[in-house]
Amino acid sequence: MGQKKLIRFAEIETFANVLQYPQHMKGQWGAFFKNEHALTLELACGKGEYAVGLGRMYPQRNFIGIDLKGNRIWVGAKTAIKENLGNVAFVRSQIDQVNNYFTAAEVSEIWITFPDPQLRASKHKKRLTHPKFLRLYQQFLQPGGFVHLKTDSPVLYQFTKKVIELYDLPLHEATDDLYKQPTISDELKIKTHYEGLDIAQSNRIHYLRFGLPTGELLVEKDSLLKQWVFDTEKE
Ligand SMILES: C[S@@+](CC[C@H](N)C(=O)[O-])C[C@H]1O[C@@H](n2cnc3c(N)ncnc32)[C@H](O)[C@@H]1O
Repeated sequence: MGQKKLIRFAEIETFANVLQYPQHMKGQWGAFFKNEHALTLELACGKGEYAVGLGRMYPQRNFIGIDLKGNRIWVGAKTAIKENLGNVAFVRSQIDQVNNYFTAAEVSEIWITFPDPQLRASKHKKRLTHPKFLRLYQQFLQPGGFVHLKTDSPVLYQFTKKVIELYDLPLHEATDDLYKQPTISDELKIKTHYEGLDIAQSNRIHYLRFGLPTGELLVEKDSLLKQWVFDTEKE
């Protein structure tokens, strides 16, 4: 492992705004931020451009970026410390464990920013908008809360639209070419590191904003989704 990574790993241990696998935090975020402001998560946050960018825009709200990679989280956490953004924090963890850190209705919005599209059909269950993950998010997203997905991947965009249709989720916004829209909000203008890389080479940013119902997302439908993925996408 590189020297820089080791230094960052050691440093985030000392950052008050980084918590690693924080099993004890369910229902405790109000105490952590010392206020009861609305809480927004950025999942697969990498360097946390959304957590930090939204934190700057909305001092009266709290933001938590979550990612597995400590050396990436370090970048966002260091920026938040330098800028004195007390409303921004980071959790180092697998997203698969996210339901261990937040209690019912503790979170008002979730941003999923340029997650790995997991392009192989056989890997589709690893996509962060697969119902397997949505069932975790349901455990802590407030009724009427939003999930935002920003991606350059047409495959992930179409997949997520199919999930929304199949599980009858409320769809609020959908575009396969965000910057062609006549007007876009300042939130949507925040650019992440991976947005700049355009790995999918689609030259387009795709965006979805949707909700999650309080009722269960039927597990039986997962096999229909799997069938659709294998019928529609190339392996
Ligand atoms: C393509 S990068 C995007 C990073 C950032 N959102 C951006 O747009 O620059 C995907 C990120 O997801 C993280 N990631 C992938 N799967 C994860 C998982 N299961 N749990 C936590 N983080 C994950 C990776 O560590 C990586 O930082």
